Order: sequence, then structure tokens, then C-alpha cells
Amino acid sequence: MYKVSLEGRGDFTEWRDAARAFLSANVAPHEIEWQFQGEETGLFGFEEGNRLPQIDGAASVNVPAAFMPFAQTIICHSDPTRFALLYRLLWCLGKDRALLEFKSDPDVAEARKMEKSVRRDSHKMTAFVRFKEVPLPPDTIGRRRFIAWFEPDHFIVERKAAFFQRRFTDMDWLIVTPKGSARWDGETMQTSRMAAEKPDLSDETDELWRTYYANIFNPARLKIKAMTAEMPKKYWKNLPEADLIPDLILNAERRVLEMGAKAATEPQLFHHRLQAAADSRPVPVLPDADTLEGLKHEAQSCTLCPLHCKATQTVFGEGPANADVMVVGEQPGDFEDLAGRPFVGPAGKVFDQVLGDTGMDRKALYVTNAVKHFKYEARGKKRIHQRPDAGEVQRCRWWLTREIDLIQPKLIVAMGMTALFALTGMKEKLSDVRSMPIPMDGGKMLFATVHPSYLLRIPDEQKKTEEVRRFREDMQAVQRLMETSGETESQVSFGR
Ligand code: URA
Repeated sequence: MYKVSLEGRGDFTEWRDAARAFLSANVAPHEIEWQFQGEETGLFGFEEGNRLPQIDGAASVNVPAAFMPFAQTIICHSDPTRFALLYRLLWCLGKDRALLEFKSDPDVAEARKMEKSVRRDSHKMTAFVRFKEVPLPPDTIGRRRFIAWFEPDHFIVERKAAFFQRRFTDMDWLIVTPKGSARWDGETMQTSRMAAEKPDLSDETDELWRTYYANIFNPARLKIKAMTAEMPKKYWKNLPEADLIPDLILNAERRVLEMGAKAATEPQLFHHRLQAAADSRPVPVLPDADTLEGLKHEAQSCTLCPLHCKATQTVFGEGPANADVMVVGEQPGDFEDLAGRPFVGPAGKVFDQVLGDTGMDRKALYVTNAVKHFKYEARGKKRIHQRPDAGEVQRCRWWLTREIDLIQPKLIVAMGMTALFALTGMKEKLSDVRSMPIPMDGGKMLFATVHPSYLLRIPDEQKKTEEVRRFREDMQAVQRLMETSGETESQVSFGR
């Protein structure tokens, strides 16, 4: 019998190294006892020390890509059997790579349950950590400091630390829990596995939380079951607003009756004045430039929607004013926003690569976007892409329509759902209309395919290769369609 003692409580690397060594030495799961240090359940008290099999350099083990994130999540579970369970899965995956898909397998079922529990716990930590401000010592100047206490079920503090760093990057904070702590000082993140004790926490933000909660509580929408599922009772003791809940529930019915009996409230007078002022403002008359250059110039000062406020500049389409093919993407990304040109970032590189493979010349295409400003959310130093909403796409359609009117392309390629929606108003699944020419008004043809950034996001290498191949075939189809565009419509065919 082999015995291995792990130090880590949620440490994937330590378990992985041991598991790899056992697997390389062909040690079956029943031959190993996993013990570990420092969990509340205490040590198992083996007399012998660690006994890892002696092998020269553990071989790397091939597992399906999905196993790694799965195992990394499960290792954070507080159940001491998780190490053995994961090793059994690893052992069996060597014989059956599809094992994880068999939900009825008892080990797979147990592992899925653990994974779900860790993910739920992580989600609850995101929702229920309440920071309290720690006053700076008198006469000191510095960043504001906050502390929070949370009681997770599993060892998730390290796993969630990066989230809190991104979200609260501009303040110093410390999250303490009975299962470890994390600290951020604006430059470094430190985590500790020591169990912490609940600090004495209370400040005036408690009152803010309570006022906020009492105000957003709508008695007419009360669904106790859904509410306790979302905010389980075990978290209540650390939530300042929680002691309001019993009374709010008790009085909900009475308050609904009172609300119903009251007459509708009239808006304040100043609302009428603001509305009247808004109604009398002239609708901005947009320029109707009659050249592409003129249109591009006008678009630089577009304020049709709020996206212009945060973006660096308008990123207008580019390409020949008489192009036969117009390619429409979603919106400029980070690179495009800075460069002022469409598809020059990572998605643009994929696009260029595939065009190169098919022998198409990008210079012959007019390349543009459904939305001309970069929509993003700032997280720390990063700008994270956000998909434009339907209203933003509809506003920006003003420019896209004019680009089409001026260029009169024979074929428009919609890359991705946003482009398809902007061009047709269709909200169908892209897969329902992909890879087939669709006739549009004025004898134009529409061809829908995926957006190149979709290809960048596929984690599985095999799937990625397959999807790039399909995108390349779509571009070849576009090319063939252009070559046959002089022929009659019935002669056009797209064999796959
Ligand atoms: N994605 C787009 O849709 N357009 C760009 O210009 C760049 C990335």
C-alpha cells in the first residue's frame, strides 16, 4: 500500500505531481491511501511517512482537455475523498477517454456533484462578500482599506482572489475566512491557507446595505423559495441586511394590499418640465454625405449612441469605394479602437490568414463593422470587450446603410450574429443561415459565416482546427460566388 501525504488543501499542483508519479509507476487506485494535512477533520495519523513510487521523471499523462479545469475545481472541495476520487477518474481515463461523458458512472456523478458545489460556493462568495472600511490611522494619507469576512464551504479563496483583484483593484483589501485569506495592496496579491477568526466588523456601510436592501425589496414580487435558494440562510449571519428579511416577508402581504389601495402617484412637476424640454429639442439632422470619404469624415463626430463617450475614435470601414464584396464584423476591438482601422487586431490576423489561404486579396474587399465604436468595460488596466446591444446596433445601422448605398456591393458577408442582425434584423441562430447565399434587396447577395474571434475562443485544438477549416471553406465559397456573380442566380452553387 502506498501512502501519500499532501500539504495543500486546495492545491492542484501538489495532487497532480503525486498522481502523475503514481500513474507512471502503474499504481492502481486501491493501492494508494491519500492523507493530507491541516483540514478540520484532522490527520489520519499514518505512522509511515510519504511514500511516492521511485521513478525517474514522471511521464506526462494525456487527458482530455476538459479534465484539467474539472479537476482544478474539484480539488478545492472540502471533502477529504476528493484526491482519491480524482485519481480513480484519472486512472480510468487512461482506458476510456470518454469516461467523463458517462454521467451514470458513480465516480463521474460524484465528481460532477463536487464540481457543482465548488462552483456554487464560488458564485456565493462573489455575491456575499461585504467589505467594511478600516479607518486609516489619524494624519495618514493612503489608499482606502477594506476588510471582509466570509465563510465558504470549500477552499475557494485562492481561486476567487483574481476576481476580487480585478473588481476592486483601486483599493486595499483583505478577505478573511476560516479556509484561508487573500490580501491585495494595489501591487501584489498574497494568499494564506491559515484559518482566520472572524474579526470585529461593523461600520456605517452596514446601514447603507440595509437601506438599499429595504428599498429594492418588492413585496409584490416575493417568492420565498427562489429567494432562499439565491440567498441561502447559512449566509445570513454575515449579511448586514439579513435581519430585515423576516419582517419584510411577514409584512409583504399587507404592503401589497396597501400599495394596491393607493392611487397611482403623479410624477413630480419637474419631470413634466424635463419631458417638455426633451420633446422640443430638434432631432439631430444627420449629414447625408454623398461620397465614402465624406461619410467617413462625418462619422468621426458621431454621437448617435453613448458608445462614443468611452471609445478613442470612430473606426470606419475601409476598402475600395467600388468593392464587389463588403465584409461586416461586429465592432472594433481594443487594437482597432487605438489604430482607427477595422480588423487589425487578433481577430483581424485570423481573418487575414484565412483570406491568404484562399488566395483572396483583402485590398479588394470593403471591410467594416456593424457598430463603429469600441464597447468595453474597464477592468484594472484591461479593456474587456462587451457585445453591443440591439439598440446600439440599430443606431449605428444609419452608417452601415449609407456605406452599402454608396458602395453598392454585389455580395455582403456577415461575420457573426451582430453583423447578421444589423444587416437583416434576423435573430435566428447563425447556424441556420450559415454558408448559403441569401438574396437581398437590389439584387445583392448576403452570405453569413462565423466571426473570426469565435475561432480564437475555442479552447479545444481539434475543434478549433475543424472550425477554421469551415471558415476557410466559407471564404472559398465567397470567392466562387464572386467568380460566378456574372452568371444567372440558378447557376450559382455551393457544394460542401
Ligand atoms: N472584431 C470586429 O468585429 N471588428 C473588428 O474590427 C475587430 C474585431
